[in-house]
Formats: sequence, C-alpha cells, structure tokens
Amino acid sequence: MAEPKTSPEIGGMGHSVKRKEDPRFIRGQGNYVDDIVRPGMVFMDIVRSPYAHAKIKSINTEKALAHPGVAAVITGETLKEYNLHMMPTLMSDTQMVLPVEKVCYQSQEVAAVVATDRYSAADGVELVEVEYEPLPVVTDPFKATDADAPIIRDDKEGQESNHIFHWESGDKDGTEDVFKNADVTVKEDIYLPRIHVASIETCGIVSEFDGVTGQLTVWMTTQAPHAIRTVVALVAGHVGLQEDKIRVISPDIGGGFGGKVPVYPGYVIAIAASVVTGLPIKWIEDRRENLQADSFARDYHMTCEMAADKDGTMKGLRIKTLADHGYADAAANPSKFPAGLFSICTGSYDFDKAHVEVDGVYTNKPPGGIAYRCSFRVTEAVHAIERMVDVLADEVGMDAAEIRMKNFIPKDAFPYKSALDWEYDSGDYHAALQLAMDKIGYDDLLKEQAAKRKKGELMGIGISSFTEIVGAGPSHTFDILGIKMFDSAEIRIHPTGKVISRFGTKSQGQGHETTYAQIIAEELGIPVADISVEEGDTDTAPYGLGTYASRSTPTAGAATAIACRKIRDKAQKIAAHLLEVSEFAAYTNHPQGMEAGLEAVNYYDPPNLTFPFGSYIAVVDIDSGTGDVHVRRFVAVDDCGNIINPMIVDGQIHGGLTMGLAPALYEEISYDEQGNITGGSFMEYLLPTAVETPNWETDKTITPSPHHPLGAKGVGESATVGAPAAIANAVVDALSHMGVRHLDIPITPEKVWRAIQGAQA
Ligand code: CDP
Repeated sequence: MAEPKTSPEIGGMGHSVKRKEDPRFIRGQGNYVDDIVRPGMVFMDIVRSPYAHAKIKSINTEKALAHPGVAAVITGETLKEYNLHMMPTLMSDTQMVLPVEKVCYQSQEVAAVVATDRYSAADGVELVEVEYEPLPVVTDPFKATDADAPIIRDDKEGQESNHIFHWESGDKDGTEDVFKNADVTVKEDIYLPRIHVASIETCGIVSEFDGVTGQLTVWMTTQAPHAIRTVVALVAGHVGLQEDKIRVISPDIGGGFGGKVPVYPGYVIAIAASVVTGLPIKWIEDRRENLQADSFARDYHMTCEMAADKDGTMKGLRIKTLADHGYADAAANPSKFPAGLFSICTGSYDFDKAHVEVDGVYTNKPPGGIAYRCSFRVTEAVHAIERMVDVLADEVGMDAAEIRMKNFIPKDAFPYKSALDWEYDSGDYHAALQLAMDKIGYDDLLKEQAAKRKKGELMGIGISSFTEIVGAGPSHTFDILGIKMFDSAEIRIHPTGKVISRFGTKSQGQGHETTYAQIIAEELGIPVADISVEEGDTDTAPYGLGTYASRSTPTAGAATAIACRKIRDKAQKIAAHLLEVSEFAAYTNHPQGMEAGLEAVNYYDPPNLTFPFGSYIAVVDIDSGTGDVHVRRFVAVDDCGNIINPMIVDGQIHGGLTMGLAPALYEEISYDEQGNITGGSFMEYLLPTAVETPNWETDKTITPSPHHPLGAKGVGESATVGAPAAIANAVVDALSHMGVRHLDIPITPEKVWRAIQGAQA
C-alpha cells in the first residue's frame, strides 16, 4: 500500500484550533481525506468518456480484471442491479452515477476500477475497453432548443426538448411601461463564462462499510456533511443504508467554494463499491478530472436593458437570461430558486420596476451550475447590474461615481423593499463609495486619465458598488431537497469550565474555529483557549445545512450567540441561588428542581437574509501594443455589519479579490463544437499567481444588520462577487473614448487588442 501523503495544513487567516486526532482512526500526518488510511484499504480510479455524446455499445472488462492488482471493475450495469446507477441532483433533476446506455459529456464517468494500489487502478482504467457510437452533439445553448437538436435527456419521461426550466420575477407589464415611457434605454448582451472552482485539494472520499454492524463511515470532501448523509440515505436506503447507520466526516477539505457541495458520481461509486466488496475504498480525483468533470459555475448569457431619465435617474431594469446547465441541472440552489438569488440584480439602486427571466437548457457539457464562492447566482446578478450602470453612464454622459451616487438606495430608506421583492436589511452605499473614492484619490485619477489620453496612453478607472444577499434560510422560503435551511450550534460547558462547541456548518479555511470560539468567549466570558470548536462529523455535530453562500455567520454564528445566551440565563439563575457562583456550580451546587449541567443548543432560523455590500475601485493600465491589462491599484471598501474578527474578514476579502481577478482576466472553460473541452488543464485554465495579483487596499464601513443577534452579515464571498465588474469596468473605461462599450470577461490580451484594432479601423 502506498505511503500516505502528507499535506500542509491550509487554514484561514488567524489562529486555527486544530481538531484533536481521533485515536480510533489510523491516519497519515495531515487531516485531509487523502491522509486517511484504513486497514486493507483499496483504491479506485475512473474510466472517462472521450466523447461528449455517444451510445455505449459495449464495455469489455476482461483485460482489466486479468491485471494482478485489480480487484473489481464496476459499470453502470453493476449499479443498475441495485438501482444505484442514477441519483438525484440537489435541484431535483437526475444524474447518472454510471451510464447504462449513453454518455452525455466529455470526461463523464463510464466505469470504475478498484485495485490494491493507485497505480494498478490507473493501469486497470487503461485496460477497460469501451466501444462507443458517437451521437450528434449540442454545445451552443442558443441551439439547444432548435427543433432539430438531439434530445440529450431522452432518459427522462416527457422530456421532449432540451429546455429545463423557465423562471421569472418582477412586474413584466409595469417594466414594459417604464421602458416605453423612458427618455433613455440601453441594452447589452453580457456573458459570464463557464468557470470552475480549482481548490487546492481536489475531491475525494474514503468509504468503509462494516458488514457486521451495517455501519457506513465515509470521510469525504464535503461542505455539507449532514445534507450529504441525508442524500446518501435517500439514494441507498433501499439497500439498507439508513441515515442512522451512516456517518459522514468532513475533515480538512482544502477549499470548497461551492464546488464541494454537490454529490459527484465518484463518491457514490466508491460508497457502492465499498458496500459491495466489503473493502475500504479511497478515491481521490486528479486535477484534470476535477477541472473537466466536476460541476461548473456561471455560464449565464444575459440580455440586459436599463431605462432611465435623461439626467441619469434609473427607472427600469429588464434581464433575459439563458442558463447553460450542461447535461443535468445540478445547481445547489434552494429548491424554490432555480435561478438562485439572481433577482438581487437590481443591486444597490432604487428602481421603480424590474423584471427578470431565466431559462435553463441542457447541453453536452458537465452538469451544474454551482455557486462558485457566491450566494446562488449573485455574481451573475452583480456583474450584470454593475456593467449596465456604466453602459448607462456612457449613454447619458455621466461620471461612473456620480451616476451611482445619484441612484443609490438612500441610507434612511432601509429596511428597503426592492423592485424584485427582497427586503434589504440595512445599508449605507454612499458612505462606502465615498470612502473608496477618497482612499484611491478619485478626482486625481480622473485628471491623470485625461492627461494620459492626450498622450495616447490607455488607463481606466472602474467602480463596482455591489449588494449581496447571504445567509439562507429563512426556512419558510429556503430548502434544499425539502430540508429546510437553518443552522445550528451546540455548546457544552464541562464541570471544570472547559467548553466543547459543535456546529452544523463546515469550515473550509474560513477560520470558524477562531470566530465561533470568539463569539462564545465574548458572550460567556470564557477564555478562547478553553473552547474547542468541532464541525463536520454527523455523529457528533447538530444537524445543519453546511457552509456555502456566506451563510455561516448569518445562521450558525447567530445560533452560537443564542445558545450562549440560553446558557447565560441559566447561569444567572444558578448565581442567584448561590449568591457566589463558581464554574462547577452547574454540576455541584445547582438549585433543587433545576436540571443539572450547563449546555444549550440552538437551531437558528434567520428572520431574513443579510445584505452585505461594498464599493470597489480598480485602476488599470493597458499596453496598446499587446492588449495586456495591468491592475495598478484596487481599493476595496466592504461592509459586513459588525465584524467578529477583523483579521479573518480581511483574509476573506484578500482571497476573494484574487478569486474575482481570476475570472475577470484569466479563467474560462469552453468547448468546441464536438464538445471537446478547451481549458481542462492548468496549461489553458489560468489561475492568477502572486505575480499577477495586485496589492489589495482594503477598508471598511460598518452598518450592522438589525435582525442578526450580533449585528453581523456574511462576508466570505463579497469580494469574489464584487471584483470582476470593477476590473471589467476599468478596462472598458480605458477604451471607452475609442467607442468600446462592453467586453465580456475574461478580458484577455487578445480581446483587448482586437477591440483596439476594431476601434482604430
Ligand atoms: O459561510 P462562510 O464561513 O463561508 O462565510 P461567512 O459567514 O461570511 O464567514 C467567513 C469568515 O469570516 C468566518 O470565520 C466568519 O466568522 C468571519 N466573519 C466575521 O468575522 N465577521 C463578519 N461580520 C462576517 C464573517
């Protein structure tokens, strides 16, 4: 058996209390899934399709099975015997675990090889012979619903086209009237390309089934261990895997960013294979598999229109979107929101009327779309509105800051009901933009730009004044597969005053170990060093929906405060009884008639979401000869309400800004007409390094959330959501005097160079 690899600990900013080693498990030196080693463990590797759409005529496993290291080859037919060849997606669509009849995207799982070591498993994959019959391919979402397009999901009863859903929000007729009567209207097609989370660690699982007790234990890279356990029970309950017999442990997962929310076929195959063979099985994706086959993000084609008065007063917003979901709708959205929270697209502005529509379609690409460091399509919404504000500014001849200041929802209008029906909790948009302008020296930059233009030099200033919507629940509106979206904290104070706290969320580097301990310390006056924080083990943690969409602080952070306050109430009663309280009293001298112990659990169902916001300003210089964009300065002013830990929040924003720079200038996954992926390795899928990353200049305003017990809002995703528009706006601004009004991201040197050539021609 291969030696376990050791990985460095990847923590959030600040001090991270490392979970104690559990002596029941034999482990490598790290705390990642790939560090888990079980006695007799075998390895799994996956055969993947070279075709984007093809019938499977035959799968010959003979040669693979003859390999001395190979223990088993699992195909769709194997899984079909147990009715495990299909699984639900989190959006109530279905997805193949392994195909029985056909494949629907390049790199799709076709069969799995289980072997005594990784190398034999990889050899076995090479030896499986699959005969395919290619089928016509659809990669262009605009052609997906053509009458002659092949039906990709012909396995679904009643599915007569590649259309998945239509969703809309707002006042269609009212918006139409606003547009008819407007002085000015502008329109732009904006595409947010398919991108992919590229976490430091890829996905992986160790699955172990005890045939005697019927207990299944899985260590897996998941952001939502409880929800995954429920899904596994739903998928495999009929073969005896009931929820109480399943333990999901999510150790350090090396980054999640939404990409580790869905259930991938590899996980299910490994679980099924461990149950069938009785052997503990490890599967760790390689980087190409991770980029080519896991759920993607974005891929939104938006036609955006804005109506306004001559003086730049915004009146109406209308957006029609075509969402390319690949071959299955595997978004991890709350079930009532097929287009996520896209209807936050009115942003920070006071519109009279708005209407948005989204249509989802199937294409021969990997399924999705996940919320890549984004609260369910908020990045798409922010990009659309922030680009359109600049398009309108250009049309009416106003400065980008001035038009924003003119149209911001005023501070005294909160709580504010948006044209698309969200109730924003609090905000002060003018203050955030003003601070960003002061910090970057906005007026001087305008003068510098004017001087440079005279010399023929290209310099641009871009603003993004975004509003987010994070913290799902409330449970009356938000659920995933019917499981209501709340989150939980359980706090136990032991007789010696030491604390164990457990949560339904799951940190992936955001530093929950630090911030939850801080909340408890602050609420209860117990030193941080005496507080253990545990997440990610379904056997010990209270039920919760997990960590994504910046929901941990708004939900579990609030639950922590409430649970602490329950404990404080009880402690006060004990204190009254004693007059002189000591740490031990809850166990040694509590009032007669009162339950012993000092612990509390809270399942927090937020009354509303929280609406963090910010104003970002980017300054770019462009090389007119090569089209290369250099981000010279970037000021980010964020407001996430009251802050629990400023260093962690700053770390979240720094990381998020780099993840916003990435799609703005570098990242894109695309496909040729045959469905071959272009951008499926780090050779073409470019991630920014320290060299490309500018020095982020961060600052903050503080506008507390009125309904959160700590006045806090989420922050983890603000920067990823807000940054791309600031950079895109800066590049367009640099070229605007040449007649350029829009460029789709990623803004590559080639796109810029072509825009310059086109303008000069
Ligand atoms: O759900 P996720 O942890 O990704 O996002 P979050 O709730 O925005 O929190 C990210 C990190 O920032 C956590 O460690 C929070 O406790 C911390 N944070 C904070 O210190 N103050 C805030 N107002 C919001 C988040």
